[in-house]
Amino acid sequence: MLGRYTTGPCGGRECSTTAPLRARSAPVAGSRSIHPVTADDPYYRHDLALVHHLGFSHHAHHCAPGILELLRPVRERDGLVVELGCGSGLLTRHLLDAGHRVIATDASPAMLELAATVAGDAEAIRRLTLPHDPIPPADAIVSVGHALNYLPDEDAIDRALTAIAVALRPGGIVAIDLCDLDYAEGLSDQPSFGKAGDDWAIVTQRSMPEPARFVRTMVIFTRNTDGSWRRDDEVHVNVLVDVSRVPEHLARNGVDARVGDSFGSEGLPAGLRTIVGTRRA
Ligand SMILES: C[S@@+](CC[C@H](N)C(=O)[O-])C[C@H]1O[C@@H](n2cnc3c(N)ncnc32)[C@H](O)[C@@H]1O
Repeated sequence: MLGRYTTGPCGGRECSTTAPLRARSAPVAGSRSIHPVTADDPYYRHDLALVHHLGFSHHAHHCAPGILELLRPVRERDGLVVELGCGSGLLTRHLLDAGHRVIATDASPAMLELAATVAGDAEAIRRLTLPHDPIPPADAIVSVGHALNYLPDEDAIDRALTAIAVALRPGGIVAIDLCDLDYAEGLSDQPSFGKAGDDWAIVTQRSMPEPARFVRTMVIFTRNTDGSWRRDDEVHVNVLVDVSRVPEHLARNGVDARVGDSFGSEGLPAGLRTIVGTRRA
């Protein structure tokens, strides 16, 4: 098994999908604000979406081999894969390169704009905000980067899990990751964290203001084309859940699933669990 990573860039490898993308001028230069996420203004605005793509691609790359192996039967029958919270299309790229048909979805328009560049040959790249928007019928539903933990509460996460189960066709496969209650353990050792590339930098402060609420307050700096820098701020609240109860919830909706620590042989951050299951015929 590979070692567990925390924040290393691309597991020490160069990421070819990130090479052509560079920071560009801000839509509104110098704008910055901290406000709650809404359907009109979701998580991952332009600058953070780009920083995620350039500096935090390692997770999708680590997960890809295990997910591709799990989805081998789906590819063999030319099934349709729906990806939730696809971000900038990093996992999507792996799925497409392996010969899958993919509909890649995310709540963030800025992420979808990047995904269109990285994975433009997908069947579709479209906005889908969980838990309300319908999930298209699928032979596999995948999601990495704990997209479901961004939902506002446990009830919303349950509704998203139900929607996943209902959207799966008989024999369909689900493979997602989800932060467990212990995901933020050890946080007090590293409450702040910084990372930078040539044209961007991010400083993140992490806290647990209440049990099962993991908050990241992020300051994002991006270089403008004229060499000046702009700043944006985002506050992300992740709802941590008792992942051990997810299989029971999915079973009530026709999906037999198990909780694990990896999709394949990759090492994932402590407290990030995988849920892999199959829809009953
Ligand atoms: C940590 S990023 C992971 C992105 C990508 N899967 C990856 O691994 O690089 C989490 C993603 O979940 C998306 N997301 C957050 N809330 C969502 C929601 N309610 N519905 C769908 N996607 C959501 C975000 O826009 C973001 O792209």
